[in-house]
Amino acid sequence: MNNLRPESMERINTPKLADRFIEEQIAQIRETVKDEKVLLALSGGVDSSVVAALLIKAIKKQLICVHVNHGLMRKGESEEVVEVFRNQLDANLIYVDASERFLKLLEGVQEPERKRKIIGNEFIKVFDEEAIKLQDVSFLAQGTIYPDILESDGVKAHHNVGGLPEDMQFRLVEPLKFLYKDEVRTVGDALGLPYSMVYRQPFPGPGLGVRCLGAITRDRLEAVRESDAILRDEISKAGLSTQIWQYFTVVPDFRSTGVRDGKRAFDWPVIIRAVNTVDAMTATVPEIDYAVLKKVSDRILSEVPGVCRVLYDLSPKGPATIEWE
Ligand code: XMP
Repeated sequence: MNNLRPESMERINTPKLADRFIEEQIAQIRETVKDEKVLLALSGGVDSSVVAALLIKAIKKQLICVHVNHGLMRKGESEEVVEVFRNQLDANLIYVDASERFLKLLEGVQEPERKRKIIGNEFIKVFDEEAIKLQDVSFLAQGTIYPDILESDGVKAHHNVGGLPEDMQFRLVEPLKFLYKDEVRTVGDALGLPYSMVYRQPFPGPGLGVRCLGAITRDRLEAVRESDAILRDEISKAGLSTQIWQYFTVVPDFRSTGVRDGKRAFDWPVIIRAVNTVDAMTATVPEIDYAVLKKVSDRILSEVPGVCRVLYDLSPKGPATIEWE
């Protein structure tokens, strides 16, 4: 299969061009899929959400979306997937709450790469378990986009369906494989997906698991989730959400001294991380207005239990990486 974007392909940068792309893809998807079923792992990220919306338009309930909540999602994210896809778009959506399973497996695991491996492997396992339960699925849809193809020399690291029986071989449907990210967003807008989904900042596969440093504990995981929600809310209110490439909070696995009700308390610090970058290879730290940072800090200190200190990470990439783990 030719994996190079056709030279004649116009840049999709207007709603009209997006509509034309959508019409063409719908025709092509229908011709390929006919009356067969298609499976999609719907993470709620931009790419898989746009693929889902496109396929729903083309083949309606022949698309089966599986959303695995690994318990490391940001606040409200899984709920938004269910609301948008099941309730608004009437999609065939299987929602799997696997939070407990992931948290159990991660108990006591400190090493970041081991955490990543456990989360990645378990994710595939849960998805495969759902796939095996389904009958007559012929196609697997993926949110592969053009940079994925370019970065991997034409060979996309496909979702590994290794846990599935040999005879369960899927054919791939990758309608976005020639699109750049901005084009995917233009198409997502044209498909009517919510702004929060189409312009979602990058979010790593292991989710909050690599932002709750060291061995994940439930109290610190909740502190990451709640502080992240506050940060996102205040960045959005300040009109900065499209001006900062990625921003999130981190909770380390050491305590710091605080005072609460006149007594010493040993609580967690929260670190705010924000970066601007073009390709994530290097990154700079934006000079967020002090009043915004103060508002975020005040809210975290008063709204998030067990936190007594807030810090702003000033380190560019390099020498620091964007994530703390
Ligand atoms: P670093 O920390 O390496 O991050 O400077 C660069 C970008 O990659 C994201 N990132 C990940 N994405 N799985 C992902 O899907 C991962 O394990 C992972 N680790 C880092 C990070 O959020 C940043 O955008």
